[in-house]
Amino acid sequence: TSLLILNGPNLNLLGTRQPEVYGATTLAEIEIQCQDKANALGIDLQFEQSNHEGVLVEAIHGARGKFDGIILNAGAYTHTSVALMDAISSADVPVLELHLSNIHARESFRHKSYIAPVAIGQICGLGPAGYLLAIEGMVTYLGEKA
Ligand code: DQA
Repeated sequence: TSLLILNGPNLNLLGTRQPEVYGATTLAEIEIQCQDKANALGIDLQFEQSNHEGVLVEAIHGARGKFDGIILNAGAYTHTSVALMDAISSADVPVLELHLSNIHARESFRHKSYIAPVAIGQICGLGPAGYLLAIEGMVTYLGEKA
């Protein structure tokens, strides 16, 4: 099993970015935790971040045939990007939507997700632990699907 964790805009600033909302853990620390989890489960994991919508679109295109699943924290593009939604619809790779914060408890513009209708599910509000739960959830989903 091979998973891609894709992080969108501003998530490179985790640890210093609005810590009252997103916590003090950096993205590099989250990646280490995710790689440890992947090793424990015996799966391959690639961890990426980009601030550019087109780079994220192309990462989703490139996942086809290469990864069994994508865990996507699309950041603010969650709430704006028809392009990401269309890429997911075309990719033939299951996508699990992930957010550190509970987007449904925040500003109303964050309640709308273009990812949700094309995702297998959504994890939000659990902070960095959500990444680890998303890995477990995707592995379980793939196991049940196989
Ligand atoms: C986020 C939630 C988004 O609304 C926000 O734009 C982000 C981070 C989260 O992980 O909680 O950049 O995706």
